[in-house]
Amino acid sequence: MTTLQDCRRLDAQDPLRPLRDLFTLPEGVLYLDGNSLGALPAATPARVAQVVTQEWGHELIRAWNTADWASAPQRLGDKIARLIGAGPGQVVATDSTSVNLYKVLSAALSIAAQDAPGRKRIVSERSNFPTDLYIAESLARERGLELVLVEPEEIAAALDEHLALLMLTHVNYRTGAMHDMAALTAAAHAAGALVVWDLAHSAGAVPVALLQDDADFAVGCGYKYLNGGPGAPAFVWVHPRHAERFRQPLSGWWGHARPFAFVPGYEPAAGIARYLCGTQPQIALAALECGLDTLLAAEPLGGMAALRAKSLALTDLFIALVQERCAGHGLGLATPRAHAQRGSQVSLSWAGADDAGAYAIVQALIARGVIGDYRAGDGARHPHILRFGFTPLYVGFEDVWHAVEHLRDVLTSGEWRRPEFKQQHAVT
Ligand SMILES: Cc1ncc(COP(=O)(O)O)c(C=O)c1O
Repeated sequence: MTTLQDCRRLDAQDPLRPLRDLFTLPEGVLYLDGNSLGALPAATPARVAQVVTQEWGHELIRAWNTADWASAPQRLGDKIARLIGAGPGQVVATDSTSVNLYKVLSAALSIAAQDAPGRKRIVSERSNFPTDLYIAESLARERGLELVLVEPEEIAAALDEHLALLMLTHVNYRTGAMHDMAALTAAAHAAGALVVWDLAHSAGAVPVALLQDDADFAVGCGYKYLNGGPGAPAFVWVHPRHAERFRQPLSGWWGHARPFAFVPGYEPAAGIARYLCGTQPQIALAALECGLDTLLAAEPLGGMAALRAKSLALTDLFIALVQERCAGHGLGLATPRAHAQRGSQVSLSWAGADDAGAYAIVQALIARGVIGDYRAGDGARHPHILRFGFTPLYVGFEDVWHAVEHLRDVLTSGEWRRPEFKQQHAVT
């Protein structure tokens, strides 16, 4: 049986503990939603103020050269590459994940049409994040293809001679279940198809080895585990074997080989730079760079491997405490127990009689300063979910203890049944 003292001891022994000081966290808040919006790095406000007052305010347009604004997408891309097992010059930080998905799906489908003409199928997971499915749906419509949605255990059987492209999110946003990137990529390649990975819940959360696992394309999010701030620029990667083959449809001037030649015809820049479209948001990129630097500060302490070890210890502890202390109230475990299949979050499924229960429990926790979130389900296969993200940079073992104690209080007291906790907000 784990005790509060055990948790305090784990914090005292944690070599990553000093990284928490790189963040500004409000008093009285236990923040378990870094899988949705990462916390504020302590360096960000001053850096953003510097970009605004000095670089923009004083340098004005000269800052594109003097403050090196022009190369920010590549500079940040190289930092992201260190977190996802990619090489320098292979990643750019730009646009949103949704927009980048449109670009990579278009590029991948064009390559597939050349290499394996006649293949008409894009396969993805039914519980993939909706924006991925919506973007794939519209591309399928545009190109006369078919989008087939399957459950995880049906993926292997869907890798056949009809498949052009497999599009998966590495760590599922609802359950926190993690796919085996190397095995699925190899299986899709063996079937003659390409693979696009969404790393929204992986980058900065779990070790990723894009080159080693031989992936084709990847996109990911800047505002979750990369701590880049709300709506931060996302990122995009392409394997060097496709570097000179792929074209993307949003052929804006920043992806041109010579943007300042101002010639009328489009000529894509070499490599990943062609994934840029328009003028890049420098204030947002500066904030994202502060977030990236919080993760890179872990490199001398063991980097992603050390963060992963702590993340698994935190999620193991949370699972064990919930089972010990919150049993009998209708909560189940939606996240796999096997470490190899778990991202950096724990999702609890709701099987209580009150359909609004999962949402209301999360609201009651938020009112107590324990911030997780809720994701609606659509039945027994995909139940309503309470999500708790564990960002090892700033979440400690004692935080986990107190979060579970609050959850236990909310459940045993029936506090969550209060009408105010059932009132739906626009953003959950
Ligand atoms: C897997 C996944 N992909 C994409 C997104 C969001 O994309 P965007 O940044 O375009 O809103 C999310 C957001 O939570 C996500 O979980």
